This record gives sequence, structure tokens and C-alpha cells, in this order.
Amino acid sequence: ERQKHIRNFSIVAHIDHGKSTLADRILELTDTVSKREMQDQLLDTMDLERERGITIKLNAVALNYHAKDGETYIFHLIDTPGHVDFSYEVSRSLAACEGAILVVDAAQGVEAQTLANVYLALDNDLAIIPVINKIDLPSAEPEKVRQQIEDEIGLDASDAVLASAKAGIGIEEILEQIVKNVPAPDGKLDVPLKALIFDSIYDDYRGVVLSVRVFEGTVKAGDRIKLMNGGTEYEVTQVGFNSPKPIARDILMAGDVGYITASIKDIQDTQVGDTVTSAAQPTAKALEGYRKMNPMVYSGLYPTDNAKFNDLREALEKLQLNDAALTFEPESSQALGFGFRCGFLGLLHMDVVQERLEREFNLDLITTAPSVTYHVELTDGTKKVVENPAEMPDASEIKAINEPFVKAQIMVPNEYVGPVMELCQRKRGIFETMDYLDDIRVNVIYHIPLSEIIFDFFDKLKSSTRGYASLDYELEDYRPSKLVKIDILLNSDKVDALSFIAHTDFAAQRGRDITAKLKTIIPRQNFEIPIQAAIGSKIIARTNIKAYRKDVTSKIHTGDPDRRAKLLDKQKRGKKRMKSVGVVDIPQEAFMSVLQTG
Ligand code: GTP
Repeated sequence: ERQKHIRNFSIVAHIDHGKSTLADRILELTDTVSKREMQDQLLDTMDLERERGITIKLNAVALNYHAKDGETYIFHLIDTPGHVDFSYEVSRSLAACEGAILVVDAAQGVEAQTLANVYLALDNDLAIIPVINKIDLPSAEPEKVRQQIEDEIGLDASDAVLASAKAGIGIEEILEQIVKNVPAPDGKLDVPLKALIFDSIYDDYRGVVLSVRVFEGTVKAGDRIKLMNGGTEYEVTQVGFNSPKPIARDILMAGDVGYITASIKDIQDTQVGDTVTSAAQPTAKALEGYRKMNPMVYSGLYPTDNAKFNDLREALEKLQLNDAALTFEPESSQALGFGFRCGFLGLLHMDVVQERLEREFNLDLITTAPSVTYHVELTDGTKKVVENPAEMPDASEIKAINEPFVKAQIMVPNEYVGPVMELCQRKRGIFETMDYLDDIRVNVIYHIPLSEIIFDFFDKLKSSTRGYASLDYELEDYRPSKLVKIDILLNSDKVDALSFIAHTDFAAQRGRDITAKLKTIIPRQNFEIPIQAAIGSKIIARTNIKAYRKDVTSKIHTGDPDRRAKLLDKQKRGKKRMKSVGVVDIPQEAFMSVLQTG
């Protein structure tokens, strides 16, 4: 009976179309949080998410809705991130629901991530409720967007809700449509427990907290459960809903989305995507887990203080618990000491991990420039996977280097097709097709090396199309390219952490750009420091950092005390993020200079 009154759904959208704002309105309207507690974007709990205005981690919340039919429903709303780096998290949250609200901006229309997310929802057989948001904007064209949803996605949009999450218009209609159009969960109650772990966090007091969707059976405090992957068993200490604070309940049953705690101390034991079952009566077959996400980008993470290596390891283990896409393994660098080579889904993911490590775990880190993985064929017939440019074998030992290519889909108004193609071409892209979606909008498809996409491609795309283009991409295959490793020498010493891979045609230019850039970043010393770029033993670029005459950092020429304090603070933070290599101090920025050139 209770099952009939449960609705599990997610909200999917292209980034910035208003998903988090809509979630806030829904929470308000259902009195899940009092007005006093209401902070904007309540589901974005991480400080980082709030500051950046983006959703990173999925989050689930239970709410009560008194519908017009007189019944009270329990809604489980599972938030999803919108950025292309995190589509993995989207597919995870969708696996826990029966329905999805599709938010489309009435002024922007359907964009690349709208399509990508809808297809994920359709793959999961979800009921989709289209919502055209931001109808309060003067530039809103809701009827045009309704037509787009029909033509470009192939969804019936005749009942699409016209809404403004900001002004609170259409919210109740959305909730009514959820009651009507999202199917109630089914799943037997009198069978062994079968629950999917879709997220987990580590809490110092409660241990590991599992976020689960129960598909079959029931679970309550005192039950013995088994995690099917590792076979470990625990006694449940508490079950409940997040609302959004944890609220204990007597029992979770098939159809429910909630949490389980069981004094699980060992982080290693829990895996997102694993199935929880009853220890006494285990279910025969585990639920289908998640596709394993492979990192797209790698970089080295090093503590500025070498003594913090073990703290960094512990922090990475804890982060990995609710960020299954993060990978790490120890590595060492002559320049930076001991650290970890970490794998990320993209640059935003990398940024987020670094910031979380620094804030939540109080670490000061140096990150090396991100790199993709290369598949190298050696002259002796063996193959090698290179995740760190410093480990690229000598050119004389290499037969071929294969680099990852993505298939990129760019949606853009036709007046910007020229600049988009120019950009793709410059980034070594190979044109595939171009389709007109309607009179104005074009879908352009290119095959582009991943290494070109992860750097500043998206920024360049936005600036050359005045923000009108949207991008989605997926890894396609590895293709041979003419690539070389470029080493950087400071004071005649090779700094392994600064090595990078470039295309032969651009190598000389990149070498010049980077040495010039480093010259502006590395602080002067009381002696001259040569900076060189080299391919093998051949120097391709050279410049010098002049010796200083007087201490330039001690004087800040500004009368404004506020500004002075800010600058001093920046200097202090900058100093912490500095690594001494031989006699030269290298600031964090230097390791990223590869990203800012080319
Ligand atoms: P991610 O969480 O990063 O995926 O973005 P999102 O889709 O959740 O977008 P968010 O809710 O953060 O909204 C993006 C911007 O659009 C914010 O500045 C909102 O204030 C604004 N916005 C959201 N809904 C409306 C609306 O109905 N009307 C107007 N005018 N602005 C809106």
C-alpha cells in the first residue's frame, strides 16, 4: 500500500538551465525545509558547489507531497550534476528512479547535454516529464522550445509544464505530473533484501553511510546485511531518509530510497554499484552495477610538505568512497618527491578533487599539468601505456604513439559554424558531418584528440560563439599521431614534473611559449637561471630568468590597506604552494603553464 504512494525521480538538464533552483522550489513547496532553513540551492551541500554554482555530487532527499487527489505521497528526489565531466554520476542516480524531470531553458532551448541526459534517462526506461523553465525571461520562447523537444528529442511535449523556478511558477503542476506520470515502484516485500548502493560517504561518527535504493525486500535496524561484492557482513544500526537531514525510520522497503548505517569502518569494503542483501537469506543474483568509468585525464598530486604523504593517501581513500571515478596510485618524481598519479573524468573533476583535498583534509598540494593516456608501441614489439609524460620512452625506442580521440558533438546557431570549424581544425579535428536541426541550429560532429579538448577547448568554443555553442563528447578510440615529449630544464636540471607531450608540428612553438611563460612565473633569485625546452638532447627553446637586484616581493605599492592585505594573503597562499627544486622555487602556477599556452 505504501509503495503506491512512492515516487522516485531525478531532475536532468543542460548545465545552468535551472535544475538546482527547481529542486529548491520543490523543497519549499513541500515544506521539506522551513523558510528559515532555506538557503538557495539547498541540495548543493558542498561549499565548493555553492561557491561555483554547480552541482557535483548527486544527493537524495525525501519529501512529502499532499496531492490534489487528497493523498499524501513520498517523493524521493535525486539530484544530478549537469557538467559533461559528471555524466557518470547522472547515470548512477537515474538507475535509482522511475522518472525524470527534464528541464529545458525557454531561452536557450535544447542543448548538447540535454540530449545526452535524456538518452541516459530513456536507456533506463524512465518516464520523462518535460519542463520548460525560465519563462519569466523576456527572451523566453516556450512554444519554439516545445517544438524543439518534439523534433530534436522525439518526446511528446504537448503537456510540457511552462515554469519559472525563479518566480515559483508551474511548480505545483510539475508535482502533480509526477504523481500522475511517474510509475510507483514495484518490487516484492516478502523476498530477500536487494538494494543498490548508489552513493556513500564517510562520517566520523556513523562510519560509512550507504545511500541505497531498495528494489526488493525490506531492511531495518538489527538486520544482518551482506555486501555482495566483497561478501562482508554487518549489523544494521540505523535506516532512514535524508530529508535533507537524516531522519531515522523503522524500516526501508522495496521502492524506498534512503540510507543504511552499520558501523562500517573499513572504507575499502563498500563500493558504489554494489548490492546489499540479507546475510541470513541472500538473494540469488546481485543487481546490475554500474559501468566502470575510466578516467580521461591524469595528473600528479604531491603534498608541498613531503611528510604529508600518508595524510594524502588517507584523504584520497575517503574521497574515492563517494567518487568512484577517481583513481590513484603512488608515484615519485625527482622534482616533487612522493605523491600520487590520479585519474579524473576531466579538468573540472580534477579541480574539484584538488580543492576538496585542500579544504576538507587541510592539505597543501602541487598538481602537475594534466595529461591523457598514450598507448605506445615500442620498436621491440612490446606495448606500453603512458599516463605520465615523464615516463614516455626515448624517441629511439618508439615505433608509434597512439592518442585518445573523442567524438565531439557541437550544437550551434548557423552563423557561428565558420568559427567552430576553424577552432576544431586548429585543434587537429577531423570533420565528420553537419546536420541542420531546424532553420537555425546546426549539429556539427568532429573527431578531435582528447588532449586538445581537455585544455581550453570549451572556453575557446564559448568565446568564438558568444556563448551559443554547446558541447558533448565521448571517448571513441586511439589513433596514431606524430607526438614528441618535451622536457623542461631549469638551471640545466631536467624537471620531470614539467615534461609534456606535444604534436611535432607545434613542438617548437610550444617550447618557446612555455619557456617564455615560465620566465614570468618563476621568482627571480640572486643568480641567473636558464630555462630550456628540449626534445631528447636537442634544445628547442631557451631563455633566462635574470638575477634580482632588490627584493621585489617585499614591497607592495598600494595605498589601499584592504587591497594590501588581500595581496599579502595571496602571496602567503602562493608561497605555501611552492616547491623547491634544486636551488629554484617553482610555484604551482608553473606546473599549469602548459595549459595556458598552445
Ligand atoms: P548545475 O547545478 O550547475 O547543473 O546548474 P543548474 O541547472 O542547477 O542551474 P541553476 O539552478 O544553478 O540555475 C542557473 C542560473 O539560472 C541561476 O543563476 C538561476 O538563478 C537562474 N535561473 C534558474 N531558474 C530560473 C528561472 O526560472 N528564471 C530565471 N530568470 N532564471 C532562472
